[in-house]
Amino acid sequence: MVINLVENKNLNIFEKSKPGNNDYIVENSGITESNLNNYIPKQMIRDYGIGLPDLKENEAARYFTNLSKKNYGVDNGIYPLGSCTMKYNPKINEEISNFSSFTDVHPYQKAEDVQGSLMVYYELGEMLKKIVGLDAVTFHPSAGAHGEFCGLMIAKKYFSLKGENRNIILIPDSAHGTNFASASMAGFDVIEVKSGEDGTIDLNELNRIVAEKKDLIAAIMVTNPNTLGIFEKNILKISEIMHKNGSFLYYDGANLNAIIGLARPGDMGFDIVHLNLHKTFSTPHGGGGPGAGPILVKDELKEFLPVPVIARDKEKYYLNYDLKNSIGKIKAFYGNFLVCLKAYCYLLSVGSHLRNISINAVLNANYLKKKLEGLFEIPYDKNCMHEFVLSAKKYRDKGGSALHIAKRIIDYGIHPPTIYFPIIVEEAMMVEPTESEDIWQLDKLVSIFNIIIEELEKNPEVVINAPINTEIGKLDEIKALKEPILKY
Ligand SMILES: Cc1ncc(COP(=O)(O)O)c(C=O)c1O
Repeated sequence: MVINLVENKNLNIFEKSKPGNNDYIVENSGITESNLNNYIPKQMIRDYGIGLPDLKENEAARYFTNLSKKNYGVDNGIYPLGSCTMKYNPKINEEISNFSSFTDVHPYQKAEDVQGSLMVYYELGEMLKKIVGLDAVTFHPSAGAHGEFCGLMIAKKYFSLKGENRNIILIPDSAHGTNFASASMAGFDVIEVKSGEDGTIDLNELNRIVAEKKDLIAAIMVTNPNTLGIFEKNILKISEIMHKNGSFLYYDGANLNAIIGLARPGDMGFDIVHLNLHKTFSTPHGGGGPGAGPILVKDELKEFLPVPVIARDKEKYYLNYDLKNSIGKIKAFYGNFLVCLKAYCYLLSVGSHLRNISINAVLNANYLKKKLEGLFEIPYDKNCMHEFVLSAKKYRDKGGSALHIAKRIIDYGIHPPTIYFPIIVEEAMMVEPTESEDIWQLDKLVSIFNIIIEELEKNPEVVINAPINTEIGKLDEIKALKEPILKY
């Protein structure tokens, strides 16, 4: 038999399926298809197929193993996808979160039966309160954006109970897109605050907006360091301006690996904070979840948290539904427990070395930035925090857009940085090496950038047509956007 090797390689599991391939018979059991009725009540025997592929076990195992080899993840190598914190997550935390004593817990079990799990939540909450410098916590939100929504609903209810009609949220133009979407979903109008020359919030612009909109402003959402990787040096002034206006400061803490153990949002004046446990705290980011976006608030807002919160009475943990002004529920039950468990294990294992997370994240980013500054323009060129943004603008004439360079990086076997975000930088490439990379991985990335820039000078076609070394080559991105096929 002649087999088309190329075609065969790309067949999916349904195309590889052959009826009867997976018919197991338990020998000597006496059970056959025709006498099933003797063993199973007739009404429980399905008389139609459910469309599962029929593959022999070895074929199925090979299929999934080969599929996994086509992927690239943090377990393969450096993954400098800015803003996403694609760092290596210790396997021991995955292992503990797979213990059946945790995975078999059901949310309808009585609190007395699940004291251990409630303790994990409670103690993690206490740790996060110390790390962030705020007073109360909820683990309900399943992701960063969900946390943003929850935090803004808290602000909304607070003002509504005070009888104040504050319907505006201020968001810097460098912010993550979810900030704008969450504010809008929570029913607010958004005013964008322009960044100044140095990439931080322009105080004159902020003062102007505050003077104009006054007591219509509910809050400002700030990411610090911002998405350019720059620390908002005027954060205390911003806090003063907003609080004087009776508005809140909301902290987008998705990027806590930049400051953890070094600085606390609570001390900067923030009133509401969300964290992405699925970035800094040992759960991989991306791939559709699960995540956790706990919200922390100052004392004045603790009665507004979603119910229930985990509480302790002497040595007993319990679910407290008795919050006077709670915004209600934003998710079934109490949040994604296993993600919180991993964060708890991670923090216990890191212990007093917490600040080294940020020190290494910042050191790695600055090392890379220094090594790349001769190749690329760096529009906001100062010492960065955990990430920085390059511009590939100067290579555009040679055909080397950020997109082309990113695709060519794939040819060299690693994941490219984030491109075209933040939108205030032309041909942006946002690089976040994370704290988990060694110097040789950083140097490898630098070498790849150098090779690609040399290619652009000598043989740009190879970059423009990238990727060429991958199983699937260059995609028609416009077609994918305009005519997506979303089902098989
Ligand atoms: C700065 C910032 N804010 C918010 C988010 C949204 O988080 P999520 O993807 O969990 O909704 C992200 C995502 O990475 C982010 O980088």
